[in-house]
Amino acid sequence: MSHHEMLEDEDRVELEHSDFDRMVQKGLSRRGFLKGSATAMGLFLAASPLAQAVASVTESKLMGFTQVPASTADTFVVPEGYIAEPLISWGDPILADAPEFDASGSQSAAAQAGQFGDNTDGMSFFPLSANHAVLAVNNEYTNYEYLFSHQGKEALSAEDVKNAQAAVGISIFEIKRNDQGQWKVEKGAKLNRRITATTEMQLTGPAAGHDLVKTAADSSGTQVLGTFNNCANGQTPWGTYLTCEENFNGFFGASAEGFTPNAQQKRYGLKDKSSYQWFTHDSRFDMSQNPNEPNRHGWVVEIDPMDPTSTPKKRTALGRFKHENAAVTVDDSGHVVVYLGDDERGEHLYKFVSRNTYNPDNMAANRDLLEDGTLYVAKFSAADGEIKGHGEWLELTYGKNGLTAKNGFNSQAEVVIYAREAATQVGATTMDRPEWVAVHPNRTTVFCTLTNNKNRGGEGMNQPVGGPNPRAKNNYGQIVRWWPRGGDHTGTRFDWDLFAIAGNPTVQEGLYAGSDNINADNMFNSPDGVGFDDSGRLWIQTDGKYSNEGEFAGMGNNQMLCADPQSGEIRRFATGPIACEITGLAFSPDQRSVFIGVQHPGEELAPSHFPAGGDSKPRSTIMVVRRQDNGVIGA
Ligand code: FEO
Ligand code: CA
Ligand code: CA
Repeated sequence: MSHHEMLEDEDRVELEHSDFDRMVQKGLSRRGFLKGSATAMGLFLAASPLAQAVASVTESKLMGFTQVPASTADTFVVPEGYIAEPLISWGDPILADAPEFDASGSQSAAAQAGQFGDNTDGMSFFPLSANHAVLAVNNEYTNYEYLFSHQGKEALSAEDVKNAQAAVGISIFEIKRNDQGQWKVEKGAKLNRRITATTEMQLTGPAAGHDLVKTAADSSGTQVLGTFNNCANGQTPWGTYLTCEENFNGFFGASAEGFTPNAQQKRYGLKDKSSYQWFTHDSRFDMSQNPNEPNRHGWVVEIDPMDPTSTPKKRTALGRFKHENAAVTVDDSGHVVVYLGDDERGEHLYKFVSRNTYNPDNMAANRDLLEDGTLYVAKFSAADGEIKGHGEWLELTYGKNGLTAKNGFNSQAEVVIYAREAATQVGATTMDRPEWVAVHPNRTTVFCTLTNNKNRGGEGMNQPVGGPNPRAKNNYGQIVRWWPRGGDHTGTRFDWDLFAIAGNPTVQEGLYAGSDNINADNMFNSPDGVGFDDSGRLWIQTDGKYSNEGEFAGMGNNQMLCADPQSGEIRRFATGPIACEITGLAFSPDQRSVFIGVQHPGEELAPSHFPAGGDSKPRSTIMVVRRQDNGVIGA
């Protein structure tokens, strides 16, 4: 549960379970709907080996570890036979001249700019040789309660703002594996780099140069400073890193008395108040002075991790919204397809299809594939009361599907800048907060976590219960998966079901107890990070309520699970420390090491001292997990 989500909890909407009751009356028991699902999938997906995955949950042949119990301890727990060690924590030096972390809360902005940023999130592993690699890691936001000795309870100084701007962005650093199998950070190595909220970037694609992205400081509308709220990530086959700008709105405010956001600013959650306070010392973040600056954020940014002097490129063809991750696949046709979630209650699921095709023999020729292509948004259909069905990708192209001047769209630039409104215009399905998307290594299926949505079914929310969002006041979340028709990721048709419906079978009944692959021993809430390993194990990370009480009783701290898409079985693989979220995962190519992010342990001053223990300050940390027998993770 991030700081932002805590804030949003203030406007909590209480809902009745009436839609759920109606479903139960229709006889949609958990077992019932899953059986129905499998039968229908069998009808139109007989060719898919995954079609019957959740028909009945069988013991996995893919997973060989013994699952760990739920935990409320302030430690990172892995299965028997596994070793977990910290790789790097917030504040550890990366650049050659950076100092060691100073826990006093009075570090300078310059010190922070050479150290690992705060709140580790999505990350990718770029191999250089068998035991040498570059890790690119997002630093999503920063926890003022630990960044500053005043804990953010005072107005920020100009230096404080610079410090916070240096604590976010991306950290890129070389790592080496020693003879004992441990990965270590190479401080000062030549590819090490920090990218922050002030690093120079280039805007590319349809929005570049448009009036809506021009500012007093940049009359060209192409030169942007910085990236922040970098949530999850993507990795291209041509060796670049994709970082996704999520809750950028929270970093903007307005100094003018009586400032009211316009409809477009409201749709992106922009307000006069900002808990981060950057606008109080940096006018770029003051919307009364720079109304177009927010239009320059909310994009996917492409970074070359092999060239520390390269200029990161914001790829506007992929749309502007609260990007979670960017799941890249190359279709049989050679077109690059990127699946993209917009993590907000009632927002949408997107995909981008490149105009040009991937050239496996010339990596340099692929460098601008994400600059030009077609953006689509998903519309899910289901027969009344069914939790499976068909779907369609609706094109977000200026001049098509009502994206015309009559409806307020005057160019493709406006379509991508206001992608959310374009999605509404074409009739996209409102989703339960799409987080990460992951493409199965055999490319037949795609999975997306829908983390939770307390507004689902709420009056006036335009978020009806049904389809892939089957529960009102959805506090647990679910995982939707779809099959592109004919295996064509560039096409517009797909079929879908729910791979898992998280729930609590110990205190709930019906849909709120969860699907049949959820039980008292593996239950969790709010699935968020997902990714596949090379063998097709689906890894699931959670960012949920860790109260361990009431409807969350028995779930413990946030955790990481492993699922077998074939058998439907889900096992808990790891549990995190107090008040953390588990987010970010990357495997070494030999599948013998997995890097796992532990974000914001001890948030809101919860009693965590992870990872150092004692009375130390809690610090976001990347853990590396390997097996004592050096075997494949999860096998
Ligand atoms: Fe940064 Fe939606 O998680
Ligand atoms: Ca997330
Ligand atoms: Ca989340």
